[in-house]
Amino acid sequence: MEIIHVSAECYPVAKAGGLGDVVGALPKYQNESGHIAKVVMPMYRTKFLLENEWEVVHKGRTNLGDWWFDYTIIKEKTNKLGFDLYLVDIYGLLDRDKVYGYADDSERFTAFQICVVDWISVWGHQPDVVHVHDHHTALIPFILRYCYKYQHLANIPTVLTIHNAQYQGWLGWDKSYYLPPWDPWKWGMLEWNNSINPLASGIKCAWKVTTVSWSYLDELKHSANGLESLFEYEKGKCVGILNGIDTGVWDPAKDKYIENHFTSVTSDEGKKTNKQILCDTFGLDPQKPLIVFIGRLVGEKGADILPTVISDAYYYIGRKMCFLILGSGFPEVEEQLERLKQLSQNDYNVYIGYNESLSHLMYAGADYLLMPSRVEPCGLNQMYSMRYGTVPMVRRTGGLKDTVIDYGEDGGYGIVYNWASVGDVTHGIWRAVELYNDKKKVKSIRDKMMHLDFSWETSVKQYIEVYRSLR
Ligand code: ADP
Ligand code: GLC
Repeated sequence: MEIIHVSAECYPVAKAGGLGDVVGALPKYQNESGHIAKVVMPMYRTKFLLENEWEVVHKGRTNLGDWWFDYTIIKEKTNKLGFDLYLVDIYGLLDRDKVYGYADDSERFTAFQICVVDWISVWGHQPDVVHVHDHHTALIPFILRYCYKYQHLANIPTVLTIHNAQYQGWLGWDKSYYLPPWDPWKWGMLEWNNSINPLASGIKCAWKVTTVSWSYLDELKHSANGLESLFEYEKGKCVGILNGIDTGVWDPAKDKYIENHFTSVTSDEGKKTNKQILCDTFGLDPQKPLIVFIGRLVGEKGADILPTVISDAYYYIGRKMCFLILGSGFPEVEEQLERLKQLSQNDYNVYIGYNESLSHLMYAGADYLLMPSRVEPCGLNQMYSMRYGTVPMVRRTGGLKDTVIDYGEDGGYGIVYNWASVGDVTHGIWRAVELYNDKKKVKSIRDKMMHLDFSWETSVKQYIEVYRSLR
């Protein structure tokens, strides 16, 4: 099968979060299983772009409303990532340093999607499926089905994967003319709550919709940032498929970002050395359990409660643990976390920013990874941490619920709590401190976690089944 993934992110080209990791891995494993998977994404001005060789495969001209522009499709020459990678270059619009965060993001991603369809429309053949990811690419199923110019592509099956339904890409109806002329009887396929809602449109128009875990799909029927009734209505075409992790990139035995490699057999020594490096770097006491948080400092991740959780833990449990935080996000949260540094007694530090290599060292050297998420469609951090022998401390929600079993339950290995509340999370920390003293138990939990299978194999098969069902 020929599968075209269209996405705003793809690791290592451009990554803002887990979407990048997934789109950087899934196509690779689909290719390994005998299919032809390709990725199309915007050409941002990234390091990867500058360091690799490219060839021009198509030049075209199209329009976003009354703005006509030229675009170019370039292809990475050496199949470096294990799949064909195509970038869409729109001069002045996409070639920027960051993936998101610009005032004209709607224009950027709408123009990108139009170019992708415009390019596919001149191919001599049709792909078996166009697989789009999140709201930035979710207008493609509509464009393929209802834009007059592309009617000859209307029978190409489309799949939308929802990595995060909080963000929907809302556009005012005054921007409806951005899209290539479309059948006005179909306006309802764009509309949700008096605006154009790209994610809702994708759910309505894609042939199949997947979410990145089973529990998240269930939750969306009750909590989907306004789209609950749509998920209920469309449940027949929705399916949950849990993400895998790229075990080539995330492997403590050969991770390119860390120097001290280890396996489940050498984990005691390996983790200790990595922890020592972290503690030396951040002025922390290596004798105490090290609890880390890695992620976006936003409400979805429960980051706003971290400052109170940390001070409460010191107050009620005592200074028996160290915390190290890596992330960026809400300025108030960043500021509160920075301020806590003043109170550190060699047991607290924070790194505000994005740092890929530090994140790997933290998965490798920490004892625990804290994830008090309010919403977690899948979550990759907990799977990375388990592969590196670090016990996840997660809230029972979405993909966290599907991947972590509390160590108090039969066959369990993590610390699981019900609410993203200061009390529940602090109680989890108390359990972590208690567990840390039981070295034998920690060792057996670590062994169990490091042998869990979070590879892409099963999920790849499930995606292929989904594609086949559309033929
Ligand atoms: P989300 O996509 O919602 O942010 P995921 O758990 O799916 O959450 O994926 C987050 C990814 O981003 C992981 O690879 C994690 O290691 C990485 N990450 C998040 N914040 C940072 C950061 N500040 N520095 C480095 N990596 C980060
Ligand atoms: C989103 C979700 C996260 C998920 C990731 C990859 O960013 O917030 O839970 O793991 O996408 O699917």
